[in-house]
Amino acid sequence: MGVLQSRYNGGVPFRIRQFEKGDFETLWRIDQDCFDPQLAYSQPELAFYMRRASAFTLVAADKGKERILGFIVAEKRRHTGHIITIDVIEEARRLGVGSALLAAAEERLRESGAVAVELETAVNNDAAIRFYKQKGYFVERTVRGYYSNQLDALVMAKPLASSL
Ligand SMILES: CC(C)(COP(=O)(O)OP(=O)(O)OC[C@H]1O[C@@H](n2cnc3c(N)ncnc32)[C@H](O)[C@@H]1OP(=O)(O)O)[C@@H](O)C(=O)NCCC(=O)NCCS
Repeated sequence: MGVLQSRYNGGVPFRIRQFEKGDFETLWRIDQDCFDPQLAYSQPELAFYMRRASAFTLVAADKGKERILGFIVAEKRRHTGHIITIDVIEEARRLGVGSALLAAAEERLRESGAVAVELETAVNNDAAIRFYKQKGYFVERTVRGYYSNQLDALVMAKPLASSL
């Protein structure tokens, strides 16, 4: 894929790149920091989702220090893309990193023939709901007890415009 250039922190550039094996531990730690223990993945769970045949992982890295700022795991199921998770470290939020990761994943899903993207997010995750709505996602339905039978999820979806 092409390297997407962007900036965070008033000028520090970052790029979106493919996941490399050595990133795994860092990605898992970021996921632990991003979510309550009830929602965060164990290492085997995260590895399971990342290794699925139609899944891919993209990483946002600070260009100077190669520090990982965030990542996205997505996959294609039939004709629909699915965002498994998107996580940006706290210091790098509201600087466009999540937007760049989501745009790169959507592009890749579109290229592989997906006509829509779907995802689940916790009903109380206001930041994520606002983020996805700003990116054109709408609430499709609510799934009761999606997280550990305790917390409801919103299923959000967005059609992918054909690039033809
Ligand atoms: C959701 C998340 C990925 C957004 O990443 P980000 O890099 O901060 O997003 P961006 O800077 O690209 O934000 C783009 C737009 O989304 C909206 N947005 C993002 N975070 C928001 C927040 N906390 N409150 C309100 N709107 C928000 C804004 O419209 C923002 O544009 P603006 O900053 O110019 O107003 C990030 O908050 C995160 O990692 N959260 C923890 C993990 C998580 O909940 N992931 C989603 C799981 S489903």
